[in-house]
Amino acid sequence: MPTASNSTPPDVAESIAGLVPKLALVRRAGKSIGFVPTMGALHAGHVSLMERARAECDIVVVSIFVNPTQFGPSEDFNRYPRPRETDLQICGNAGVDYVFYPTAGEIYPPGYRTYVDVEGLSTILEGAIRPGHFRGVATVVTKLFLIVGANRAYFGQKDYQQQLVIRTMTRDLNIPTKVIVCPTLRDPDGLAMSSRNAYLSPAERTTGLAISRSLKLVVQRFQAGERDLELLRTTLSASLANIEGLAVEYALIVDGTTLEDVTSAGQELVALVAARVGKTRLIDNMVLQPDS
Ligand code: PAJ
Repeated sequence: MPTASNSTPPDVAESIAGLVPKLALVRRAGKSIGFVPTMGALHAGHVSLMERARAECDIVVVSIFVNPTQFGPSEDFNRYPRPRETDLQICGNAGVDYVFYPTAGEIYPPGYRTYVDVEGLSTILEGAIRPGHFRGVATVVTKLFLIVGANRAYFGQKDYQQQLVIRTMTRDLNIPTKVIVCPTLRDPDGLAMSSRNAYLSPAERTTGLAISRSLKLVVQRFQAGERDLELLRTTLSASLANIEGLAVEYALIVDGTTLEDVTSAGQELVALVAARVGKTRLIDNMVLQPDS
């Protein structure tokens, strides 16, 4: 994906001590800091967050850290892609100023004991299927927020429950970073971009397209005026049913803020899907705006 360019390479810091004094100088100079936390294997979805930060802030910081505490024991932590040089080049091309690229020992030194838990939101849906996942996410994002001290931090709607967990945690802990949620970037065929798409064979990719196709169908029905939630739910599950190679974990229409079950379509709703295609787990979502 990266192309050769004349962009200035970002300043890469591998330690907290290497990053914090530089950002303190930035703040002292009265400049605003935009922050994009990632796990690397960067794609255009990540780049869209960097571009938004670039447009809204003086200095852009990206972190690249495959966070061990958010992966379950049987998940893909070891095989998660780590294309360091390509990622740094993508950051450079996007005009990123600083990349924080810590080791696991820098973030979780021996004797590490403290975790952040957003109750309730962390144990439903993704949290029920991936126990401990959001505890790992909330913990690392809290630490990164405190290290970077950004004015604004950018997250994707792609991980809908994650952005809710992070917004709640930021509010509850009075962290003075504004959380901004940006739209999901998709490939032209509709598949939501994800670092994990790299695991898919061409046939699996085609199978995975059923997810965005089904979500889109629900949005279209909703926009056409359908407000019968049971009908919308049937539309979603029926269009995901009987697709060879697709194992649906959940396909739901829930409240867009609490992720709780709803019986009427008065408030903002979100349609959420998680499914496995072969060994790869894919998630996607689309929002149903009551006035759309
Ligand atoms: P990662 O999966 O690398 O994603 C980093 C950010 O990019 C997240 O905010 C995610 O929602 C966003 N993103 C991913 N795919 C996107 C797409 N297609 N369009 C727009 N944004 C997209 O999410 C994580 O890392 C980690 O959990 C992290 C927050 C960094 C904590 O470790």
